Amino acid sequence: DASDIEKGTYPHYMLKEIDEQPVVVRNIIQNYQAENGSLKIDEDILSAMKDADRIYIIAAGTSYHAGLVGKQFIERMAKIPVEVHISSEFGYNMPLLSEKPLFIFISQSGETADSRQVLVQVKELGHKALTITNVPGSTLSREADYTLLLHAGPEIAVASTKAYTAQLAVLAILAQVSGRSKGIETDLDLVKELGIVASAMEALCDSKEEFESIAREYLSVTRNAFFIGRGIDFYVGLEGSLKLKEISYIQAEGFAGGELKHGTIALIEEGTPIIALATQDFVNLSIRGNVKEVVARGANPCIISMEGLEMEGDRFVIPEVHHLLTPLISVVPLQLIAYYAALHRDCDVDKPRNLAKSVTVE
Ligand code: G6P
Repeated sequence: DASDIEKGTYPHYMLKEIDEQPVVVRNIIQNYQAENGSLKIDEDILSAMKDADRIYIIAAGTSYHAGLVGKQFIERMAKIPVEVHISSEFGYNMPLLSEKPLFIFISQSGETADSRQVLVQVKELGHKALTITNVPGSTLSREADYTLLLHAGPEIAVASTKAYTAQLAVLAILAQVSGRSKGIETDLDLVKELGIVASAMEALCDSKEEFESIAREYLSVTRNAFFIGRGIDFYVGLEGSLKLKEISYIQAEGFAGGELKHGTIALIEEGTPIIALATQDFVNLSIRGNVKEVVARGANPCIISMEGLEMEGDRFVIPEVHHLLTPLISVVPLQLIAYYAALHRDCDVDKPRNLAKSVTVE
């Protein structure tokens, strides 16, 4: 049938969609480039960003994890304070809003009911909303004031992969162009650096045997697994743990490296897999300190670091990219590790139990 054709020679949509990420990033660069080659965002969106004294990012699941990284992009490159909220909580737990809030809804499908409820609520309050979505004409796109598209092509696998990296790329572009329109220059040639990201993604997609063997070594029999990181590595760890639990049913949690000692470390037993990300220079030593703490309690560490920050014993070293953009590539090993863990455990990778691709009920 048609879906077989679309999957081509791939055994699963998820693997195909992971592999599409370099092309998606290049598509996004093209789609957001002006004729002179510089990045562009619609003027009405830029003026909404300029007018906002605070941005509220609302999302669920993987899109929420993209929002956590997006906050860093927007605060650093556009200098606007950002709060990130889970949509299902926001409605009845609305924080005290700033005077001139701008709402950004991040949703691959554009149909998530939890997020839509918040959109309806904030529109009633008279606030402006921007939707970042993969689906033109989706509900969240139609009902918001503005839309930015992900240009990622249809995502079929329930576990989101290319939509996450596309969300990050679009958020980075939005952040930088908004900052620039306010006269803030970032020391980051985003077109060039996203190109480097795309090539790095390709290199990672060419290293699948590595991630298959990591999955085999660390995750084929375990009941649980932890992902640790600091700063943006922590947010990527949250996404890595979500991928793993969604498709392999291994109980997985992401933690901030420094928070482990405040409780979670009690769960460490002989052989507990700990996947640690080390892509940030300023916390490289402290995250490695956290790894030592868990190793002393018997954990089985798998450190994924970045070129230039690697140390002896690291299990995998990702290519170097700009320090703000590391989430776009550090997530790829985690996606592939989750994929192979699910495969080794005979799970239905594309259609995990109990989950739906888009959740249109509260
Ligand atoms: C569902 C999916 C998740 C997704 C979340 C948000 O729970 O299973 O993979 O991240 O919805 O979806 P959205 O389309 O709003 O990004």
